[in-house]
Amino acid sequence: MINKKVEDILNAQINKEFYSAYLYLAMSAHFDEIGLKGFSHWTKVQAKEEVDHGMILFNYVIERDGNVDLRQIESPTRTFENPTQIFEMILEHEKKVTSGINSIAELSESECDVATRHFINWYITEQVEEEANVLDVLKKLKMFGTDSQILYHIDKELNKREYKPHCNKD
Ligand code: FEO
Repeated sequence: MINKKVEDILNAQINKEFYSAYLYLAMSAHFDEIGLKGFSHWTKVQAKEEVDHGMILFNYVIERDGNVDLRQIESPTRTFENPTQIFEMILEHEKKVTSGINSIAELSESECDVATRHFINWYITEQVEEEANVLDVLKKLKMFGTDSQILYHIDKELNKREYKPHCNKD
């Protein structure tokens, strides 16, 4: 049976991952509304990945004979400005998610939960990748985001993103 403190922080992280999916879906809807189909696609793919992140945690809590506690998911903002502002928002959000993951690593270590400490390594690597991907887009937007022709090309580029399932379990 999993330690209650570790179970609690994992349940909190499940909520953060599903909230992330909500946030990315809100962004996707906004991008769709303003005609940026590639940005809309990119954020929708990200939302699917966030659901996977939540499901991997969900399955792990069950595998460890813990209790899954599905908490209320906060409603995401629908107030967005421009693509640069939205990607700044995404980077800040992902940094918060990274901080949640780091807290799981620290707690599982202090609670001597070797399995969770090992399990969470995948998320640590995933967060490095996510922040790097967001920063890559953000740098381009900061440099060229006001040039509509270049924005059009960035939109086309983001439309190529493919969804690769992370969670293959039911
Ligand atoms: Fe699941 Fe974007 O962190």
